[in-house]
Amino acid sequence: MAMKSIVILDFGGQYAHLIASRVRRLGVYSEIREAETPASELENSAGIIFSGGPQSVNEEGAPQGDPKIFELGIPVLGICYGLHWMTATLGGEVTSSGVKEYGKVRVRGSGSGSGLFKNCPDEFTAWMSHGDEAAKLPEGFERIATSDSSENSGFADEEKKLFAIQFHPEVTHTECGETILKNFVGMCSADPWSVEGYADSIQEEIKSQVGDKKVFMLVSGGVDSTVAFTLLDKVLGADRVQGLLVDTGLMRKDEVKNIQKAFSDLSLPNLRVEDASEEFFANLKNVYDPEEKRKIIGQTFLDVQKRVSEEMDLTVESGWMLGQGTIYPDTIETGSTKHADKIKTHHNRVEAIAKMIDQGLVIEPLKDLYKDEVRKLGEELGLPHDLVWRHPFPGPGLGVRILCSEQEEAIEGQGSEKLIVNSEKLLPIKSVGVQGDGRTYRRALAVFSDNPCKISEELWKKSAEIPNKNQEINRVLKCTSHSDPVEFVFTPGFITRERADLLREADQIVYEEMHSDDLYEKIWQFPVVLLPFGEKSGQQSVVLRPIESTDAMTANSAHLPEEVLKKMTDRILSLEGIDMVFYDLTSKPPGTIEWE
Ligand code: XMP
Repeated sequence: MAMKSIVILDFGGQYAHLIASRVRRLGVYSEIREAETPASELENSAGIIFSGGPQSVNEEGAPQGDPKIFELGIPVLGICYGLHWMTATLGGEVTSSGVKEYGKVRVRGSGSGSGLFKNCPDEFTAWMSHGDEAAKLPEGFERIATSDSSENSGFADEEKKLFAIQFHPEVTHTECGETILKNFVGMCSADPWSVEGYADSIQEEIKSQVGDKKVFMLVSGGVDSTVAFTLLDKVLGADRVQGLLVDTGLMRKDEVKNIQKAFSDLSLPNLRVEDASEEFFANLKNVYDPEEKRKIIGQTFLDVQKRVSEEMDLTVESGWMLGQGTIYPDTIETGSTKHADKIKTHHNRVEAIAKMIDQGLVIEPLKDLYKDEVRKLGEELGLPHDLVWRHPFPGPGLGVRILCSEQEEAIEGQGSEKLIVNSEKLLPIKSVGVQGDGRTYRRALAVFSDNPCKISEELWKKSAEIPNKNQEINRVLKCTSHSDPVEFVFTPGFITRERADLLREADQIVYEEMHSDDLYEKIWQFPVVLLPFGEKSGQQSVVLRPIESTDAMTANSAHLPEEVLKKMTDRILSLEGIDMVFYDLTSKPPGTIEWE
């Protein structure tokens, strides 16, 4: 982009995307670049922000920026590690002292009169996470903020517009973080930016990238691919864009119909729906292992896509290229994802696709946008509100929410037997969790009590403690259908159309109740999970898993009001084939959001 924007140099950690999206919300375009980016490539920036990072600047191999940045005459803000690197580079001194401040800290700043703290209270709460500190300021800098444990929490050379702060203004725990970022952005001569103008400005780029080719794209029903498809359609015209929606049989109730309706309301006729559900169910027959299921679902998608593209002659040889709904966080691996064992390679960036990208055969019109911006753009393009604001939904769909097991988990060892007290009982299946650095595959503990839909404060507390104290457990549930423990009757099960249909009904009930109680936009995601056991033979159970989160990395169980829980439970129990309902109280960690 040729506009004057703010560059975030990524020194590691997990904050670069957060800083960039905050800056954009202040009306200025921002992008993330590597810490080592040469100053010569930053000359046209309006401002530069150094992110935090997990290393000590005194360690060998700690990330280094280009010192010439300070000669560009461009406003600079160094945050946490960014402050340390500025200090060390400009002739100050950084000392390492182990964990110094972590969490919320009171900072005194405004008395300094710094432009960075305009409109902030004299003293405010800020979020800190650092071991190192600036022991001596570089020449020309003056202290602008202090805390009890750290004398130099902020300093500046106001004239040169160089600022350094030890705390993180990008996290919501910092009381006037937004004001501080706004003050900094205000000192940069950046061009105004908003997503409203994006659809117009991106048009020329799409046209020139596509040239005289045509675009074939998979539409999943998720926000990103739906918005990308609509945008391509508007810019290129329906005769140069072809969408494919694969009905896997593992989608939500009426999902295919709703997507078809949305496109038909927008007069977009070029979406082919391929009902491949029989193929998916056939390939998943007798499969019990979660990772195996994911692999089979992914492969079946590719097979169907290949078959349809050949059938419709949508191949590269016939002048077609691939469209994808990739968004900004999927394209830029920042500190936290860059080295994360590569298990997280995004499916839009697997090797075959990367090769096509190099050959100019992939168009990704949303690749510079964050999710909230994609949603705004979707609304502007006329997509229905509900579709644009729908919760995130995993690629393999209900496939990862239908728990499959060939046999009941045996109760192992004495440890687990001891756990079963009058009001608690281990489930006869395991689920995935995350504890320490790794995945766990452990048991869930169900708690029973009178007033099954009432969750006491004590139980919330206990649900956090149990997995910590007991190595065999990674989830705690409240049974919302029964007051007293029952013998669970296990029925072996893999993914079938009947089970998918049953879960679809339960999922739909939850969706309707969330809407009727105005909870849909307050909850981040709400998996509904089917378990292969019940109170009676041949019956199954449903788990409610409402989630509060911002990025899915960590999450809490959303607290549902008792009446809502009761309504959802009663309606789900009325489905033929379900005779128990549970409410998952577990945070992530130790539980993951999905059950497998
Ligand atoms: P977990 O269960 O790891 O989920 O806490 C984090 C987020 O990722 C989604 N998820 C998936 N998305 N394919 C996807 O596209 C998958 O296989 C998959 N598994 C989990 C999950 O819904 C949550 O938003």
